Amino acid sequence: MATFTLPKNSKISSKGQTHKATDAGRVKSFKIYRYDPDSGKNPRYDTFEVDLDACGPMVLDALFKIKNEIDPSLTFRRSCREGICGSCSMNMNGKNGLACTTAIDDLKGEIRITPLPHMEVVKDLVPDFTHFYAQYASIRPWLQTVSPTPSGKERLQSPEQRERLDGLYECILCACCSTACPSYWWNSDKFLGPAILLQAYRWLADSRDEMTGERLDQLEDPFRLYRCHTIMNCANVCPKGLNPAKAIAETKKMMAERAI
Ligand code: SF4
Ligand code: SF4
Ligand code: FES
Repeated sequence: MATFTLPKNSKISSKGQTHKATDAGRVKSFKIYRYDPDSGKNPRYDTFEVDLDACGPMVLDALFKIKNEIDPSLTFRRSCREGICGSCSMNMNGKNGLACTTAIDDLKGEIRITPLPHMEVVKDLVPDFTHFYAQYASIRPWLQTVSPTPSGKERLQSPEQRERLDGLYECILCACCSTACPSYWWNSDKFLGPAILLQAYRWLADSRDEMTGERLDQLEDPFRLYRCHTIMNCANVCPKGLNPAKAIAETKKMMAERAI
């Protein structure tokens, strides 16, 4: 159910701290959302000045520098630092993206960093992905077949069949798209959102999968699929250059075709 105001304990009310850079050359200011559920306090923004001459080029480098040298309690997720794992997704200057592939120089002025929008926050920049992963599990994201495996062989695809998975298999489940989607903000309890729907289409498009009808049945619902209104925020923010809106449109086309 959509709610249009923040709960009382989610409003930014506590005064944040400012950590000034000393003896710095090129200074950049990072205003970072802080929330510690154990403190019982409301969230706040802390400001950290970072000397860019002593820092790596990416936003993730700055977060590490702040954590290692200024405030070890700063909490964020990361793993690969190569745009592969999807862990470091966050909102930087109002746009969702990966901290490890976003260059500090590409962000103008003070850089404001918050967790992905419209998700519960575990701590600081770490959102709770429990519901997102449950939605992912609901589409049964694995190859489903009924025919016996050709003995001693793989289930083969032609180059053309394999090509249909391009633009789909690259998704790293970072949730940048889903958390930029207004329909997902208001109806994430029932609408699957662009990331999960792109993943659902990845299996619908797979020539080896034999559960197409069942997969479409599962999506045939006023909310799960049809809450997408083609606003296109999803394609605008995807750090892998994917187009979930197109995958959703293809799924709707499959629905229409089987109804004829
Ligand atoms: S195109 Fe659909 S899924 Fe993508 S942001 Fe818009 S409403 Fe959401
Ligand atoms: S489609 Fe793009 S933005 Fe959405 S989860 Fe996959 S990689 Fe992330
Ligand atoms: S750390 Fe893996 S995508 Fe950024």
